[in-house]
Amino acid sequence: MLNFSKCHSILITGANRGLGLEMVRHLLSTPERPKKIIATARNPDAAEDLQALAKSHPEVHVVTLDVTSDVSVNDAVQAVKSIVGADGLNCLINNAAINIHCDLDTVTRDVMMKTYESNTVAPLFVTKAFLPLLREAAGQGSGMGIHRSAVINVSSILGSVQLNWGEMGAPKLYAYRPTKSALNMITRSLAVDLEAEGILCVALHPGWVRTDMGGADADMSVEESISSVLPVICGLTEKDHGGFVSYNGKTLPW
Ligand SMILES: NC(=O)c1ccc[n+]([C@@H]2O[C@H](COP(=O)([O-])OP(=O)(O)OC[C@H]3O[C@@H](n4cnc5c(N)ncnc54)[C@H](OP(=O)(O)O)[C@@H]3O)[C@@H](O)[C@H]2O)c1
Repeated sequence: MLNFSKCHSILITGANRGLGLEMVRHLLSTPERPKKIIATARNPDAAEDLQALAKSHPEVHVVTLDVTSDVSVNDAVQAVKSIVGADGLNCLINNAAINIHCDLDTVTRDVMMKTYESNTVAPLFVTKAFLPLLREAAGQGSGMGIHRSAVINVSSILGSVQLNWGEMGAPKLYAYRPTKSALNMITRSLAVDLEAEGILCVALHPGWVRTDMGGADADMSVEESISSVLPVICGLTEKDHGGFVSYNGKTLPW
């Protein structure tokens, strides 16, 4: 049985659609859920599904957050601070990302930089901004996991350099793939720096999922993905720290 009861607060970026929204939905269907589910979206007014969930579940707090804007990130930190108070933040899920399809012929400097900004730079700076709240929570627990303090960076198997070969080399996503490889490196660097403070850092591949990003041909529904992903997140311990884990709990090669 999924048990998030020891994770008092969780923050999910890009929670207005796709996998982020399904994380919120699935957590709300779990009896042992976090007391505070902070669902962020860059345009909450347009996030009808999320707003409907928030309306019927007081534990959902919708916060405005454009992960590429420092002003928005700083405003969100202040808003979240007043939601979590002295308990701090137990779990940050950097889920928001973009994928602009481009192959060797069509890739442009602009698309490379835009994708790097959203998928790599943004999760790093969001994490840095929320560190005081993650540290607050880390200071109140022991061991490693979402019961204490954790940063989950939603990565992709397409970021694996080793697996970019043969059949797995087929998706020619010149902008997207390297942003996830770089996010993996950032996850590992964060793991090195934050280990002593007890803040768990993991890169997670959610599977190939039928969302706006994954497309209609993908292997899994959002329900199938997130019903596997959340137990994996729930079960993370110090042995997973600094790792690259898949939705089925298996370790992926860098
Ligand atoms: N779907 C897959 O097959 C798959 C596979 C591997 C990894 N992933 C990863 O899983 C995560 C979620 O993907 P998804 O399939 O759910 O994608 P999606 O359906 O395209 O949703 C992307 C989410 O990110 C948000 N976002 C993008 N840029 C943002 C910004 N600057 N500020 C705030 N929010 C922003 C979007 O908000 P707006 O609505 O405002 O644009 C949306 O909520 C991503 O990290 C993705 O790389 C997905």
